[in-house]
Order: sequence, then structure tokens, then C-alpha cells
Amino acid sequence: MTGNTDADGEDRIDTDGEPGLPGDLDERIRDHSAGDEQEGIPFVGAGPGDPRLLTVAGKELLEDADLVVHAGSLVNSELLEAYCDDADLVNSVGKDLEELVPLMRDAYEEGRTVVRLHSGDPAIYGAALEQMDALESEGVPTYFVPGVTSAFAASATLRTQLTLNEVANHVAFTRPQGKTLSEEEDHVSEFVEMGDVTTCIYLGTHAVRETMERLLADGHDPETPVAVVYHASWPDEDVIVGTIDDIADRVEAAGYRASALVVIGEAVTGAGYERSYLYGDWANRGSNDADEAESD
Ligand SMILES: C[S@@+](CC[C@H](N)C(=O)[O-])C[C@H]1O[C@@H](n2cnc3c(N)ncnc32)[C@H](O)[C@@H]1O
Repeated sequence: MTGNTDADGEDRIDTDGEPGLPGDLDERIRDHSAGDEQEGIPFVGAGPGDPRLLTVAGKELLEDADLVVHAGSLVNSELLEAYCDDADLVNSVGKDLEELVPLMRDAYEEGRTVVRLHSGDPAIYGAALEQMDALESEGVPTYFVPGVTSAFAASATLRTQLTLNEVANHVAFTRPQGKTLSEEEDHVSEFVEMGDVTTCIYLGTHAVRETMERLLADGHDPETPVAVVYHASWPDEDVIVGTIDDIADRVEAAGYRASALVVIGEAVTGAGYERSYLYGDWANRGSNDADEAESD
């Protein structure tokens, strides 16, 4: 960890690592695969909320943990109660790297079993890598344990697929402009423009109206289906379905400002798709395109 001092005289953790060269892979990448227990602090995906949607690997790691640093209100307290009975719990919300990294490092160096628990999957809008890089430069190994991201819970709730033959050939995981993304970095409108993309917007519940107004201003069909899935898989889960034109009114009436996933595109309705080749004659003829058949 490289410390430097910012304008306020505060020590900051510098996580900007040296860029790796192609082929210059960490040897752990070849020695381990996702789900393996490894040396160090696991960055575990808690899944979308329902404790039963935690992976078996995640559950085992939590049951063994002495210290669990978790992502606050996005991790269901039922999951913490169910699997972290013996652990000290620390909520990461409101804590910066300068607090979190030494906390995890010191516990690890004292020989305690530490788990960093992120909501959904840590690789999606999780800011996990910067914590991992900071810990690694302090000599503490880290690794990922995947989880079910909220877009997958939302699609299961909506009883649809995010990819749907001929309707949605692609999926985009994105977020709207705001403090983190500039106007130029906001690509929601471009994804919708493509027509056959299911656009899953994270971190955008508070900005549904602004997002829909931008889509209307860009000339998108006001009748394009939109779903907002609040707290997918939680006991208070709620599903609001509408269109680019009316979803903002519906979400505002429901009062949601956070913790929902916004899904835009025809796949929301699950209608209008073409049968895939997978269960048709083409797949059964023993095509040379076996890989393609598998990927359907
Ligand atoms: C900081 S991001 C973390 C995403 C997380 N890593 C994941 O894979 O789902 C938080 C955003 O994820 C979405 N989110 C997380 N859990 C959710 C759930 N159970 N239902 C709907 N959206 C959820 C919301 O858009 C929320 O603003």
C-alpha cells in the first residue's frame, strides 16, 4: 500500500497499481478457479438478498469467519443472522479505505478469519478491486467468490430472460450519470437505441425520472417496456412494470429512491421471442457449430 498525503493533510491509500502486461498473469489465476478456497481474505458475493441465494462456497466461508465486513443495508440481516453467528460484524457503509484496509489487515495478521461481504456479485459496481489491491500491497492475499447479481434476481422475479432470441440478443449492465459518471459516460440511451439490448441499470433508482426524460428527449419509443424491481428476492420485494413514458410516475408513487434495478427493453415482457435453434432440428442434426448450440 502506498500512502500519500492529500491537500487536507490526510494520509490516502494509493491503489493505482502498475498496469499488468498481457500474459503477465498472477500465478494464482492458473492455480485456482472461482469457488476454490484460497489463502487470504475472500471478497464474497452475498447475492441479491434472500439468504438461500448465497452460494455454498460463500455460506461455508461465512460460517467459518471471525470478522465479516459487510455492505450494510444491501446485505439482508437475515443472511448475517443465519450464517455469521460467531463472527464480529462491521458495516462498511460510511467507512473509507483508510479505515477498512487496516481493519481487515490487522484482523488477518492476528490470525482471525476475515470475510469481506459485498451485495450481489462483488464484480458488479462493488468497488472490490481497490480494496483488494490495497490489501495485497500490504501483504494480505485476497480473492473473489462470486454471487448472484441483482439483475439475475430481477430477471427471475420477472420470469423472463435477459437475453431472449431475436428480442434481446445482448445485455448491458450500466448506471446512469451522476457523481461518478459524467454525461458523456452515460450510455443508457445508446444501449436502448440498439433495440435488441436489455439494459439493466444499477444505482439508478433515485434518477428514474431524469433517465426516462433523457430517453424521451433522444426520441426513443415512449411505449418501450420498463420494469423496476425493488429489493429483488427480499421479503418486501416489489415489481413495478410500465413504459419509458410512465414508469417514473409509478416509481415515485411507490416512493422508491434506492435499492431497485431498472430493466429496459422488450425482454421485460418475455413476449415476442423466436424459438432458439437449441431445441429445434438444427441442433439435432449434429451441426459443426456445436459451440454455438451449447451457448444458447
Ligand atoms: C453498489 S450497487 C451493488 C450491486 C451488487 N454488487 C450486485 O451485483 O447486485 C447497488 C445497486 O445494486 C442494485 N441492487 C442491489 N441489490 C438489489 C436487489 N436485491 N434488488 C434490486 N436491485 C438491487 C440497486 O440498483 C443498487 O442501487
